[in-house]
Amino acid sequence: MTAVLKTEFLGQKYENPFMNASGVHCLTVNELDELKRSKAGAFITKSATTLERAGNPEPRYYATALGSINSMGLPNKGFQYYLDYVVDYQKNDSDGKAPFFSVAGMSRDENINILKIIQRSDFQGVTELNLSCPNVPGKPQVGYDFQMTEQILTQVFEFFRKPLGVKLPPYFDFAHFDIVANILNKFPLAYVNCVNSVGNGLYVDAASESVVIKPKNGFGGIGGDYIKPTALANVRAFYTRLNPTIKVIGTGGIASGQDAFEHLLCGATMLQVGTALYEEGISVFERLEKELKEVMTQKGYKTIEEFRGQLRTL
Ligand code: SIN
Repeated sequence: MTAVLKTEFLGQKYENPFMNASGVHCLTVNELDELKRSKAGAFITKSATTLERAGNPEPRYYATALGSINSMGLPNKGFQYYLDYVVDYQKNDSDGKAPFFSVAGMSRDENINILKIIQRSDFQGVTELNLSCPNVPGKPQVGYDFQMTEQILTQVFEFFRKPLGVKLPPYFDFAHFDIVANILNKFPLAYVNCVNSVGNGLYVDAASESVVIKPKNGFGGIGGDYIKPTALANVRAFYTRLNPTIKVIGTGGIASGQDAFEHLLCGATMLQVGTALYEEGISVFERLEKELKEVMTQKGYKTIEEFRGQLRTL
């Protein structure tokens, strides 16, 4: 019996649930094309702002034994660059891997303007609104401002009719899971992506008695092994609170087939890989696919649907 990873998400069929996390290996057309040719089931573009951004000064990413710290500061080629890519892809490629389009305006107005252009465009795919970048100096994460989150979504859904998901920051309290889920349930969202990096951690190199990244005096988003329990908690909290029409993408600490299995068990439908992709390159997808199949086979599962969301409590 061979386990199969085929996954249906928003009416589209994918070979497997694995994708890159936005920000990793998706800045340029070249990198996006590599994802397209990889074993990833789907892929997503770097979060775009209206205009091209260089991002924060380097060094701005650092790998640690348990994960990573980054403060990239949304370097990207500008919204039109990625819009051209996703529209072109839609016209010319029929491999069923149509890229998701991630956007991250610097203000409510910028987000609204960007989404209006997407609504008017030929792009018919999935858009992800990033409400959770922790790395732009002076710009707090929108996802931690509940009123602003509701205001933005209210304005967006006055005109936006295409599939839209939101990338959320991690939450750490049941009160916050409840408040955010209540807000999200008011809108026809396609999905939530849990989680972005754990914002504003600090990694200290004791030998040099120094921080390891330059921006924000060393403060940055934490990813990798450190954050898997937080990511799983957020996947589970939103899977059990949101209307079933709102799917959950699991992101955070996925570096093995078992990590992927745990996210699926908590209720995720698609899985995004950040730090492990950064460290290992696109061959990570082939390994994850193989390992997830092995875990499923050992447990006697043939399809993901047999165990998705079936986490037991004691
Ligand atoms: C960044 O560009 O700083 C990372 C993007 C994000 O965390 O949303």
